[in-house]
Amino acid sequence: MDGQLVSQATKDELKIRIAQWVKEGKKAPHLAAILVGHNGASETYVGSKVRTCEEIGYVSTLIRLEDTISEERLLQTIRDLNNDDAVDGILVQLPLPKSISEQKVIDTIDASKDVDGFHSLNMGRMVQGLPGFVPATPHGIMLLLEYYKIDTRGMNAVVIGRSNIVGRPMSILLSGATNPGNCTVTICHSHTRNIKAICREADLIVAALGKPLFLTEDMVKEGAIVIDVGISRVPDASKKRGYAIRGDVDFENVAPKCSYITPVPGGVGPMTIAALMRNTFRAAEAKQSRKA
Ligand code: GUN
Repeated sequence: MDGQLVSQATKDELKIRIAQWVKEGKKAPHLAAILVGHNGASETYVGSKVRTCEEIGYVSTLIRLEDTISEERLLQTIRDLNNDDAVDGILVQLPLPKSISEQKVIDTIDASKDVDGFHSLNMGRMVQGLPGFVPATPHGIMLLLEYYKIDTRGMNAVVIGRSNIVGRPMSILLSGATNPGNCTVTICHSHTRNIKAICREADLIVAALGKPLFLTEDMVKEGAIVIDVGISRVPDASKKRGYAIRGDVDFENVAPKCSYITPVPGGVGPMTIAALMRNTFRAAEAKQSRKA
């Protein structure tokens, strides 16, 4: 599955909708991103979110804060953005310094501007199958399954990893009464026994544990669908930047067995950004209709 292609198609569609939206005299969606500290991977992700905003005609603001910032000052920055009528979506790039409570930060974001879908209210609504913002990575994976018209109904799905950002919401979405969805879902994690046998029964595997090349050929049945969420940096002297990006799947040996598989890079990563852009447009639409 080509995440680059589907992401581009999603962004092209948004670009057209935004042009029309602005022509109607409405304000372009505005995403505010907060980056705390100088984590290399976070810099890359936030950079590409801001670039994509420019590409499709959104307004973006990047707020950079030092990692010595106090929790209270960060919370105040968020409250200011909540109260700023010009801002439609707010995201705080994770992880945060250990001295700051991520949950407190996330729950301080106004739920109607929480385009990452991490706020307890949006998480709760997702679990109940109610409308709200869905976290970008699992949302992007659902868009990818939809684009390729994969009928997941009745499938045995295995999600490896139980993070709040990917694994947990992914398991909820795949088990939902939706299409794609309607799967029988097993979540595997560090305490799971016999993970190999569980994976071998799966029609669909989502690997989101962050261990390079974890999912090997002997763990996958013939014809399975494999989604690779991993994006680890592993040292590689042959690369100019000194590292290579590795997924959680041993792509080379697993791919020949699969009916569908996502590569790394060029699979889930671009879809995450496309999903975030969709959420940001929805936030702007909802704000506009509250005003009307
Ligand atoms: N860190 C890893 N993934 C994400 C994400 O989707 N959003 C934010 N804000 N931080 C992340």
